[in-house]
Amino acid sequence: MTDALSTLPEPRHPDPADAPPLRWGVLGPGGIAADFTDALHRHTRQRVVAAGSRSAERAAAFASAHGVERSHGSYEALVSDPEVDVVYVATPHSEHLEHALLAIAAGKHVLVEKPMAVTASEARRIVAAAREAGVFAMEAMWTRYLPQTDIVRQLLEQGALGDVRVVTADFGGRVEYDPASRLWNPDLAGGALLDLGVYTVSWASFALGAPAGIIAAGTLAPTGVDDQVSLVLSSADGAQALLSTTLRATTPSLATISGSEGRVETDSPFWGPSGLRVFRADGTLAAEWRDPYGRPHRDGMAYEAAAVARYIAEGRTESPLHSLAEAVDTLATLDEARRQVGATRVE
Ligand SMILES: NC(=O)c1ccc[n+]([C@@H]2O[C@H](COP(=O)([O-])OP(=O)(O)OC[C@H]3O[C@@H](n4cnc5c(N)ncnc54)[C@H](OP(=O)(O)O)[C@@H]3O)[C@@H](O)[C@H]2O)c1
Repeated sequence: MTDALSTLPEPRHPDPADAPPLRWGVLGPGGIAADFTDALHRHTRQRVVAAGSRSAERAAAFASAHGVERSHGSYEALVSDPEVDVVYVATPHSEHLEHALLAIAAGKHVLVEKPMAVTASEARRIVAAAREAGVFAMEAMWTRYLPQTDIVRQLLEQGALGDVRVVTADFGGRVEYDPASRLWNPDLAGGALLDLGVYTVSWASFALGAPAGIIAAGTLAPTGVDDQVSLVLSSADGAQALLSTTLRATTPSLATISGSEGRVETDSPFWGPSGLRVFRADGTLAAEWRDPYGRPHRDGMAYEAAAVARYIAEGRTESPLHSLAEAVDTLATLDEARRQVGATRVE
C-alpha cells in the first residue's frame, strides 16, 4: 500500500563535518567529556583545544589521551583562555549552574550537559546570564539533533500521525548502589529523574509541549534520591505521555508517539542513533528506517556540536530546535516529579 506514511521524509541534518570549526574548551574532564571530545575529533572539524580540571594533573592526562593541545589546572583558567570560543560544561549536574555562570561571565558561549541545572530556577539563572551577556547557551540534549529525530520532527510538522494522543518513553540503567557516586549522592544531584528521566521528559516535550498535568509515582534510595519513577504527563487536550526511569534495571530505551492516523516507534536507544518504524492506524507497518551514517552510540554527540557551531556562526543565542525556555520547562517538570516522590534537594 502507498500512502502518506509509507514514504518517510529524508532527515534534513547537514553533515556534521561541514559545520564551521570552533575552538572548544572542555570543563570537567570526566567520562562524558572524553566521549564528546572523541566524537568531535572523529566526525567534525570542531576542535577541543583546551581541557580544564580542578587538578592540573587530571587536565594534562585528559589532554594527552584525547589529542587536546592545552590543559588548565583550574576552571577559571580554562574559561579565561582567549583561544577558546565555546565551553562544554561536563561536570555533575550539581555544578552546572556555577560552571555555566563562570563561562558566561568570561564571555564564552556554553553547551551545558543535561540536565541544564538541578532545578528550573537554577536554569533560569543560566538563561538570564547568557541573555545579559549576549552569548549562545544550550542544554546538551543531543537526541534533538539526531537524523532519526528529524524524521519524527517532520512527521509531526506534517501532521502525518494525526492527532497525537499517547507518547511513551523509558530510560533505565542498572547502576550499582554506591552512596558516594554521582548517580546516588544527593549532594551531586543524583537520582534517576535528573540523569536518565530527563531524556524521557524531553521526548514528551518534543511531541506534546510542556505538560498541563504531572503525576509521578516512585521510590527513593537510602540516600534520598529517586531510584525509580513513572510519570503521567497530560496536555490540556487530554493527550498523555507515559514515562519511566530507573537506576535499578536496564530497560529497553524505546520511545513511541501514537496519533489518530498512525504511530512511530523508535529502535533502541531512542536517545542515540538507532532507527524507527512507522505504523498505520490499522496496525500495519508503513515504513522503517535504520540509521546508516556510522556515528553510533555517543558519537551521535557530533550532531549537537555541529549544530552549536552553525548556530553560533549564524549569530544565534539559542537553538531553534530546543529552546532555553523548553530546557527550563523540562526541569520544572522534573522539579514537580521529584517533589511528588519526596526526593531530596528540590527547591
Ligand atoms: N550526553 C550524554 O550521553 C551523557 C552521558 C553521561 C553523562 N552526561 C552528563 O555529563 C555530566 C557529567 O557526567 P559524567 O558521567 O561525565 O561524570 P564524571 O565522569 O563523574 O565526570 C565529571 C567531572 O566533573 C568534574 N567535577 C567538578 N566538580 C565535581 C564534583 N563536585 N564531584 C565530582 N566531579 C566533579 C571532575 O573533573 P575534575 O575534578 O578533574 O575537574 C569529573 O571528572 C552530567 O551532568 C551528566 O548528566 C551526559
